[in-house]
Amino acid sequence: MNKSDLINRTAETAGIPKTNAKQVVDAVLSSIGETLAGGDKVSLKGFGTFQTRERASRKARNLHTSEIITLPAKRVPVFKPGSPVKNKVAAGNPAEDFAALSTEQETGSISTAVNKPAPSSRQPKVIAVTSGKGGTGKTNFVINSAIALAQRGLRVYVIDADLGTANVDVLLGLHCKKTINTLVEDRDMDLLDIIVEGPEGIKIIPGGSGLQSLAELSTEELGRIINMLRPLEELADVILIDTGSGISRNVVDFAVAADEVVVVITPEPSSISDAYAIIKVLSAREIKPVINMVINLVENYTEARQVASKMIDVAERFLNMHPRPIGHIVKDDNLVRSVKQFKPLVLYNPLAPASRCINAIAEILIPIPDKMPETAENDSDFLGKLKTLFSRSAG
Ligand SMILES: Nc1ncnc2c1ncn2[C@@H]1O[C@H](COP(=O)(O)OP(=O)(O)O)[C@@H](O)[C@H]1O
Ligand SMILES: [Mg+2]
Repeated sequence: MNKSDLINRTAETAGIPKTNAKQVVDAVLSSIGETLAGGDKVSLKGFGTFQTRERASRKARNLHTSEIITLPAKRVPVFKPGSPVKNKVAAGNPAEDFAALSTEQETGSISTAVNKPAPSSRQPKVIAVTSGKGGTGKTNFVINSAIALAQRGLRVYVIDADLGTANVDVLLGLHCKKTINTLVEDRDMDLLDIIVEGPEGIKIIPGGSGLQSLAELSTEELGRIINMLRPLEELADVILIDTGSGISRNVVDFAVAADEVVVVITPEPSSISDAYAIIKVLSAREIKPVINMVINLVENYTEARQVASKMIDVAERFLNMHPRPIGHIVKDDNLVRSVKQFKPLVLYNPLAPASRCINAIAEILIPIPDKMPETAENDSDFLGKLKTLFSRSAG
């Protein structure tokens, strides 16, 4: 990213004209300059180097009066744009560096990796979380990132659509009797009757076990359920869907209908090949969602990068897909303990290593300037898309 990228990004996220964004960027650059002593340098990876230069006092002409004046010696900020981020290990935020890994080939810029295109309409951002195989940490990721986003002031809804082994409520110690199943069985039941509130005000739509796939329902039943989800468009800023694992119709339909998919991968070879399988299924669909990857259960960032690189490599080579790594979660006993106590990790131990990782990922998923996320028109109508998908599959 260089100065003009930063100006564009500032204009986009703040919704201001570029000329104003340029003034903001110039002000920021000169205040950075003021904090540097002459000769000191600050380099921002992929952006450039800030430095100050001593300028000796000199004579000049006042343009209005033509009078010769003396300009005093001063320090002036100097900015040298950097080249676009390359495949190097970052010194800065691993999550952003991670994101840069997959997007440099497309854009050569970090900015598009962490921000959606210019917003145009206010719709909840819908994120489906999935994995090739079970036990990769999806549900814990969903719950903890939901709480992390709620702590940033967003209205977060979690749909437990893992209809095989729905357990969002169980992990929160909620044990809900009314679930999506109840909605299917009891025609008098309304969505609002089954929503329960979790920690930090997150709202849970509990999944019922036993239903293998929403696509098994009749068109009429599906229509009814989907219409019931419609109020969420007004109520939510973010909808996180725990879709379960595998390439069942249910998982894939939710993933395709969402704005973005997060595939949770672990370094185990079987997890990587199963994740590849799900990316392959998504790549064959007419509507291709944005695919993000979270690498869970790693020893450290370096291990995560290796897994991410491998995944990107095969997805690009064989599927022409560009999965975007958005962060890693370290293997952390705190998480295991938090599960045993039915308390989400980010509340059980906010400073635990895995909590920090999850917070960094939440920040990448929805950056702070996007506090009220607005999605582009063409990918905003999640419920509409779901309806189309289901009517196609059930019809
Ligand atoms: N980062 C982690 N560190 C340690 N253990 C983890 C981590 N992520 C997941 N686990 C373990 O994996 C188990 C399954 O996690 P879960 O979120 O239920 O997976 P999924 O929903 O993909 O089946 C957790 O109960 C925990 O024991
Ligand atoms: Mg789960």
